[in-house]
Amino acid sequence: MRKAGPIPDYRFQPMEKGDLPEVIQFWQRMEGIGLSESDSYSALSFYLQRNPGLSWVARNRDRDLIGAVLCGHDGRRGYLHHLAVAPDWRRKGIGRALVDRCLSSLRELKILKCNVFLFSHNPEGEAFWGGMGWKGREDLVLMQRVL
Ligand SMILES: CC(C)(COP(=O)(O)OP(=O)(O)OC[C@H]1O[C@@H](n2cnc3c(N)ncnc32)[C@H](O)[C@@H]1OP(=O)(O)O)[C@@H](O)C(=O)NCCC(=O)NCCS
Repeated sequence: MRKAGPIPDYRFQPMEKGDLPEVIQFWQRMEGIGLSESDSYSALSFYLQRNPGLSWVARNRDRDLIGAVLCGHDGRRGYLHHLAVAPDWRRKGIGRALVDRCLSSLRELKILKCNVFLFSHNPEGEAFWGGMGWKGREDLVLMQRVL
C-alpha cells in the first residue's frame, strides 16, 4: 500500500455556490479588487452555473480561504475576474496556480484567448500578469453600457 505523503499547506478546489458568501467577503477585504452589483450572491451563483468547474478557490489546512478566481467564457474568449490571494500567502505560486487551472480548462474547451481586466493603477497586478506573459492591448479601449 502506498504511504500517505505530507499534508500540503494548501489545496485547490473548484469554486462552488457554497463558497460564495466567504469568497465575496474575502474579495471585499482585498485591495485591487472592485466589486459591483454583478458580484451579489445570486449574480455569482448564476455565473458559476453558466461556467461550471472553471472558477477556483485555494484553502489552507484549516480550510480558511486563501485565494480565489472567477473564470468564464462566452464561447469565443475566456475571462478571468477577481483573482486574489491572501496577503500572508502571496509569492508562493498560488496566484499562478489558480490562473493555470483556469487556462487549462479553457484550452480544453477550445477557447483560444483569455482576457483579464485590472484597474489602471494596480502596479502589483500588472507585474503579476506581465510576468506571466500577459500583454496589455494598447490598441483597445474598454467601453461599457448599463442595460
Ligand atoms: C496579484 C496576486 C493575485 C498575485 O498572487 P501570488 O500568489 O502572490 O502570485 P504568485 O506567487 O503566483 O506569483 C507569480 C509571479 O507573478 C509575479 N508577481 C507576483 N506578485 C508580484 C508583485 N507584487 N510584484 C512583482 N511581481 C509579482 C512574479 O513574477 C511571480 O513569480 P515569482 O514568485 O517566481 O517571482 C496577489 O498579489 C493579489 O491578490 N493582489 C491583490 C488583488 C489583485 O490586485 N489582483 C489582480 C487584479 S485582477
